[in-house]
Amino acid sequence: MTTNQGNPVDNDQASITTEKPTMTLLSDVHTVEKLAHFDRERIPERVVHAKGSGAFGYFEVTHDVTKYTCADFLSAVGKKTDMLVRFSTVGGERGSADSARDPRGFALKFYTNQGNYDMVGNNTPTFFIRDGIKFPDFIHTQKRNPITNLKDANMFWDFLSLTPESIHQVTILFSDRGTPYGYRNMHGYSSHTYMWYNAKGEYHWIKWHFRTDQGIKNLTDAEATELAGTDPDYATRDLHESIEKGDFPSWTAYVQIMTPEQAENFRFDPFDITKVWSQKEYPLIPVGKFTLNRNPDDYFAEIEQAAFSPGNFVPGISSSPDKMLQIRLFSYPDTHRHRLGTNFHQIPVNMAKSEVNTNQRDGAMNMGMPGGASPAPNYYPNSFNGAAPDAAFTPPPIDVQGLAARHEYVTGDVDFVQAGDLYGRVLSDYDKTNLISNIVGHIKNAQQRIQYRQTALFYKSHPEYGTRVAEGLGLDVEKVKALAAMTQEERVKATAQ
Ligand code: HEM
Repeated sequence: MTTNQGNPVDNDQASITTEKPTMTLLSDVHTVEKLAHFDRERIPERVVHAKGSGAFGYFEVTHDVTKYTCADFLSAVGKKTDMLVRFSTVGGERGSADSARDPRGFALKFYTNQGNYDMVGNNTPTFFIRDGIKFPDFIHTQKRNPITNLKDANMFWDFLSLTPESIHQVTILFSDRGTPYGYRNMHGYSSHTYMWYNAKGEYHWIKWHFRTDQGIKNLTDAEATELAGTDPDYATRDLHESIEKGDFPSWTAYVQIMTPEQAENFRFDPFDITKVWSQKEYPLIPVGKFTLNRNPDDYFAEIEQAAFSPGNFVPGISSSPDKMLQIRLFSYPDTHRHRLGTNFHQIPVNMAKSEVNTNQRDGAMNMGMPGGASPAPNYYPNSFNGAAPDAAFTPPPIDVQGLAARHEYVTGDVDFVQAGDLYGRVLSDYDKTNLISNIVGHIKNAQQRIQYRQTALFYKSHPEYGTRVAEGLGLDVEKVKALAAMTQEERVKATAQ
């Protein structure tokens, strides 16, 4: 055993004290260091997605997509790229149960020859809101009430019922897909639309889909509740143990692709993350497959300190005019600087495996690695052969028109169509029954006026959906129907406190 400075330690069981009485001496530098470091072991947990689990693996290209993207890691069939993956729940704290009803985070880091590419998605193809300005409010309603420090059904349903665009994601969340069996048995999605551009500078809009090769498996609400008590870390255990015994989970990667012209003329805003693109119109195009085959050696170093950002792009992939995505591009590196420090990119798990050549210097915890100790000049332009940008990596420009203003989405009833289709056309009778009882079991703890407002949104999506929730809650179905026929503004007034 040594101290943190590598000096041999003679004894780790008895601190140095006077003999009678036993007063501890400050000269015991080993004991002082041991306690001082322990006092500083915790760093802030992630503000969302705090509970998670991760593993390493590789991505392999199985299909030629070079006509769509010039990304080097996608440039040839058979090409392999090292990866880190982190799965998570969203609303709970670092010690919360893995089986909570919640979306699951699906964060992928590709260590490519052109730097890190991160695909930071969820196990749902949609989201609750579509403008990032609402994200802090939404998350507050999923976390604890600031007064009682309890999860609060009033906050939860008040916000959602005042945010009707959430109805599609709410329906997914309260189906049994909201309680996946474990991380291995769920699909992953970019949810957002991204740009792919090829070597000629032609671009398309794409959405990623990662389909689990283990098959979808979900828990019922009762099973999830029981597991939260008997084995709260079961998803973490399931992932770790399956990799440990050589049963490596994998996911097949696809993209949906839309041309700029199709996007221009699409029947709703294709960048609206509350909606999916029909797979009949925009079929899944296979790209590759990733496999997880190595558990981390140290959870804190490699998973807790992992920093994913939807803004980590490689040439060939870029962002899109999705308002949620645009705000995420700011939020992730910002929180990393707070959670991990200015030089979070120098933590080994976050370091690019390709050359890093930046003029950013110094800062707390600089490891003298990328840039820090480089002899090259730390400014540009320079005439000493320093790092220089290369215009060959410019993504295609996109046409932007009109006024810069607070543009609200004006969508109306189209927001209810996909939730209604999910209920009416996709879910089986068994799924529907579970959906209704999962909703009723949760919203029954909210005030009745909020139950009415939210149930009217279920009714607007599909009359049978709303009627069954209303019956489950003992609400007056005629009143729900009348509320459903109102505008959102009228409904909010009619259900005010
Ligand atoms: C984590 C912000 C929407 C997926 C986080 C973190 C923040 C954040 C601050 C913590 C990151 C860290 O501490 O390392 C936001 C904001 C959003 C948003 C402001 C909306 C504007 C989304 C959406 C998705 C998503 C739509 C999925 C499509 C994730 C995932 C993580 C995460 C997977 C965990 C990453 C990890 O494993 O380290 N988000 N988020 N977020 N977010 Fe978001």
